[in-house]
Amino acid sequence: MKYQIINGKMLLKEEALIPLNDLGLLRSYSIFDFFRVLSGVPVFLEDHLDRLLGSVDKMELDLRWSKDEIRTMCREIIASNEVVDAGLRIVVTGGYSHDGYTPARANIYMMMHNLPEYSPDDFTQGRKMISSNFTRDLPEAKTTLYVHAIHHQKRMKEVNAIEILYHTDGVITEGSRANMFFVDQNDVIVTPADAILRGITRRHLMHVAKDKYNIVERTMVMDEIADMKEAFLTSSTKGVLPVIEIGGVVIGDGKVGAITSDLHQLFNAHVAEYITAHREEFDDS
Ligand SMILES: Cc1ncc(COP(=O)(O)O)c(C=O)c1O
Repeated sequence: MKYQIINGKMLLKEEALIPLNDLGLLRSYSIFDFFRVLSGVPVFLEDHLDRLLGSVDKMELDLRWSKDEIRTMCREIIASNEVVDAGLRIVVTGGYSHDGYTPARANIYMMMHNLPEYSPDDFTQGRKMISSNFTRDLPEAKTTLYVHAIHHQKRMKEVNAIEILYHTDGVITEGSRANMFFVDQNDVIVTPADAILRGITRRHLMHVAKDKYNIVERTMVMDEIADMKEAFLTSSTKGVLPVIEIGGVVIGDGKVGAITSDLHQLFNAHVAEYITAHREEFDDS
C-alpha cells in the first residue's frame, strides 16, 4: 500500500515518518482500531469510528479531529491506495511528549495492510487455544499494548494454537485479539461481558443470531469449559472461528459444532449484505 496518513496529511509510505518522542512509542500510550475493507467498502465503519472515539475518551487522549474528519481520512486513504480488499488501521497516540512521559496533543496515524489469510480448514476443523491468567490494562479500550500476547507467540506455535484465552484468576474474559463464545449442553450461547473489549464482530453476531438462538452474557469460569458443547471466537479478521480445544481441554467431541457452523454462515451473509448496502457510498472512493 503506497500511502499512509499522519495527522490528516497523505504521505508516501517511505515519507510517513514521526519524531521519536511519540508517547505511543515511548510508553505505549496509544489506542487503535482496525477493520476490513472488502470490495472497497470499510466494513462496519461507523461502529469502528465510535469505538475509536470511545477508546480515545477512556485513554483521555487530547484528539483534535472530529469523527467526520476521521471518516473523510478513511475515504481518502482507501481511494489513494486503490485497494479492493485490505485492513485499515487507525492509531491515536499520546502525542510528541516534551519529557517522554507527559501526554501532549494526540497524533492520528492511518495505514493499510494486506489481510491475514486463514485456511478453509480453520473453519471446517476448528483451531486450538492456549490459556493465560492475564488482565489487560483498560480492557474496554482498544489499547496498542499486546506485550503479553506477542510474548506468548512461541508457546502458541508449539501447540499450533491460534489464540490465547485470557482469564482473571479463573474468570474468563476474552481472547488476546478476539471475543469468546461457548455453547452449553442446552444449546444456550454464553459469552463473558465484563472486562472485555466490546468487539464489533461480537455485537453484529449477537444481533443477527438473537432471533434464532438464546444468547446469555454472564460470568464464566475456566472450570466450565470442560462441560461446553461448542466454542468459537469472533474478530474482525477471523469472523466466527470454531475452537476445538482450550489449554488442553477438548471442547465437546473435538469437532466443529452445528451451531458454530450456522453462526459462521449467518455472520458471513450479514457482512455480504452490509457490503452490498454500502457499495454505492464508496464507489467514488
Ligand atoms: C482484546 C481484543 N478483544 C476483542 C477483539 C475483537 O474485536 P473486533 O470484533 O471488533 O475485531 C479484539 C480485536 O482485535 C481485541 O484485540
